[in-house]
Amino acid sequence: MKSLLTCLSLMVLGIGTALFIGFHDRFSTEEPYYDDEQEGLKDQIVFKFSHVVAENTPKGRAANKFADLVYQKSGGTIKVEVFPNGSLYSDNEEINALQNGDVQFIAPSTSKLGSLSPEWGVLDLPYAFTNYKAVQEGLNGKIGTRLFASLEKHHLKGLAYWTNGFKQLTSNKGPIFTPDDLKGQALRIMPSSVIEDQYRLLGAHPRQDSFNSTFQLLESNLVDGEENTISNIYSKKFYNVQDYLTISNHGYLGYAVMTDEHFWNSQTEKTRTILTEAMRETTEWNEASAEKMNKDQLEEIKKNSSIHIHVLSKAEKNTWMKRLDPIYGQYEQVIGRGLVQDLLSLRREP
Ligand code: SIN
Repeated sequence: MKSLLTCLSLMVLGIGTALFIGFHDRFSTEEPYYDDEQEGLKDQIVFKFSHVVAENTPKGRAANKFADLVYQKSGGTIKVEVFPNGSLYSDNEEINALQNGDVQFIAPSTSKLGSLSPEWGVLDLPYAFTNYKAVQEGLNGKIGTRLFASLEKHHLKGLAYWTNGFKQLTSNKGPIFTPDDLKGQALRIMPSSVIEDQYRLLGAHPRQDSFNSTFQLLESNLVDGEENTISNIYSKKFYNVQDYLTISNHGYLGYAVMTDEHFWNSQTEKTRTILTEAMRETTEWNEASAEKMNKDQLEEIKKNSSIHIHVLSKAEKNTWMKRLDPIYGQYEQVIGRGLVQDLLSLRREP
């Protein structure tokens, strides 16, 4: 009996201690635990970077590289936490999250910025850029400067342009050789009226939806196809639920890396210098690596799937360009004549 009582008292004591420790840990107002060997860690600043694509893409890798560089350059006192795959915010939510201070960096596709200013539509014009060199000339020149200036009225600050590459077409309905092959096809597109009108012009049924719902839309046949870069088609495995892929390079997909102006101005000069330097190095790396990443991932798609691939010939591309040309006239007033003319001066044969 005595030993039973001793045993019971020990159990009560044990449970009480465990509850106390749990309660203390959960609600303690003491300083959090830091590893003393990592000097200065308790003064560490943490920023959040949210994006919607996979990590093995030009944007995913650039965001991680930026985080690494910031950490190195600040001696570990600034940490950028990267949230890929829309795990924190979807593409429909991320601009608001930035403006509300819930996240400090985002890199939306420029096609998603038309709601801020219609000028962004210039980058969605069909065959706007016909190679990576033209993209860099445009974005590092007058076009890029003008577009970043348009963010100021929203108290947003453009930090850099990151590139992904050129969009291709995928479908389940049939092979796409000519613009007429898209007639009647339902296609998921990004939220851009310029893109929407291109597909309407060809008699397709575009549907604006978020990136992270695309696989589901394709898999459940709610749409027949979509347009995207190879890196997005590969990393999100769209090729597993699509039968046809056409290498059309008919549009550009790139990113505006942005932060909130109030956030930026409230940082010390030293922090801003570290962030600026890290962003510059990341952008150079992104420009040098995006094309190869897309090329390599096309080879992976060929190896890992039975999707039928058609590469548009030069003559076929010219046919697509001509069919889509009326979009330039339709949007010249909306986007602004100056911007459209600047773009046309960079346009080359496909
Ligand atoms: C992205 O590359 O950020 C997403 C593109 C898309 O929405 O299709």
